[in-house]
Amino acid sequence: MNSPVTVVILAAGMGTRMRSKIAKVLHRAGGLTLVEHVVRLALTVAEPENIVVVVGHQADQVRQTLAPYGVKTAEQTEQRGTGHALRCAQSAAPATGHLVVLYGDAPLLTAETLRSLVDERPETATVLTAILDDPTGYGRILRDPDGHVLAIVEHKAATEAQRAIREINSGIYCFRAERLWAHIDLIGTNNPAGEFYLTDIVELLRVVGGKTHARILADPNELLGINSRVELAEVDRIFRARKVIDLMLSGVTIEKPETVVVDCDVTVGQDSILEPGTRLVGATHIGEDCRIGAGSVLENAQLAEGVIVQPYTIIQDSSVGAGSRLGPFARLRMHNVVGAIAHIGNFVELKNTTLGDGAKANHLAYLGDSIIGARSNVGAGTITCNYDGVHKHPTTIGEGVFVGSNSTLVAPVTLESGSYIAAGSVITDTVPTGALGLGRGRQVNKPGWVKAKKG
Ligand code: UD1
Ligand code: MG
Repeated sequence: MNSPVTVVILAAGMGTRMRSKIAKVLHRAGGLTLVEHVVRLALTVAEPENIVVVVGHQADQVRQTLAPYGVKTAEQTEQRGTGHALRCAQSAAPATGHLVVLYGDAPLLTAETLRSLVDERPETATVLTAILDDPTGYGRILRDPDGHVLAIVEHKAATEAQRAIREINSGIYCFRAERLWAHIDLIGTNNPAGEFYLTDIVELLRVVGGKTHARILADPNELLGINSRVELAEVDRIFRARKVIDLMLSGVTIEKPETVVVDCDVTVGQDSILEPGTRLVGATHIGEDCRIGAGSVLENAQLAEGVIVQPYTIIQDSSVGAGSRLGPFARLRMHNVVGAIAHIGNFVELKNTTLGDGAKANHLAYLGDSIIGARSNVGAGTITCNYDGVHKHPTTIGEGVFVGSNSTLVAPVTLESGSYIAAGSVITDTVPTGALGLGRGRQVNKPGWVKAKKG
């Protein structure tokens, strides 16, 4: 009963209506390329070695994108139609068992629907269909008066009466592999487009006594194929909506969920709160009891529990320890490691910097290529001069250091643990433990100067 399942994903097409330099299946929705969504879906029912992606347009880039998934690819050098595309996969696919056809540009099918399609294990074939108010452009399902499927007719080739049919072909099928491969070579090109239409297989199989079952889906959105950027935006919107619903059901509070953008691989812990307009993308993982302020952007960010990110903060490729507070208007870019209960305030930029537990940089600072020890306090306006015009240099600040406001730390330089830096200093040499580093001109007062000047 449980014959092996093969999935062939047709993804060779160019996608002319996208008006893009990038192949259609490499466009992104919900934070992933379209073809990756479909491959991940296929992986829910088939082993990677039983998944064949038919590539053509920008084949190398598509292969590269799919490399981490371990699936096979087959090349269709010339796009001569869906029937031809499937034939290109034949030598890479097992000859027996069941074979599912998916499209690289239709990523919204759910794992549950695919599972139920596969579990049917049809004698010949099953096709997923939907009833649409506006079926324009789709292939139509032709049935006899008893409801048995006769054939699929493409919109372009359909008569007026056939165009009135609202049951459409999704292009998603499950075939008994032996039957499919025995008849696929009979598909011809006798149609207005001169293409090999996979849809013709339904009639060819019927003629030899093989019935195709049409399974009507309740939610036609699952079958939405992307042909233009308008449809891309719609599919993206649906992915985002599914994601925020999953998060809310798992215990995350989301204020104005329609305004947040969360990629599919992002995780957020229980009782965390996302304020309106937050954008969480890439491999971002947020612990429990965090708050992500309005308008913040987190990309490949790892936050431990209880982190407060105030509005309009940007965190990229960085991690933040438990109970820390960031923002508003803070920016962490390129590999920062912030410890627990640290504070990073407004207009503070961190780049490639490690900030120890309990350390603070509360206002207006640039801390680049630096290591800052636990409990150190970096005053307002402090700048690490990490770049000499040619090379980048490190700044090392020990534990419990106090850096007075508006200090300029000219790297490479070290402030040892427990040292103090006087406000307004330009520091170029090591400041030893317990010392006060003072590097500024002395103040001179000239009594009576104003009156003398103005006369
Ligand atoms: C196809 C179906 C149509 C169905 C519709 C659903 C056929 C003939 N028609 O039409 O009945 O209603 O999908 O969306 O099958 N592809 C290749 N190589 C090719 C041609 C296409 O790999 O030579 C791939 C495309 O990249 C795409 C998929 O097959 O992922 C579908 O091709 P597309 O041209 O979009 O078919 P439709 O005209 O939409
Ligand atoms: Mg299409």
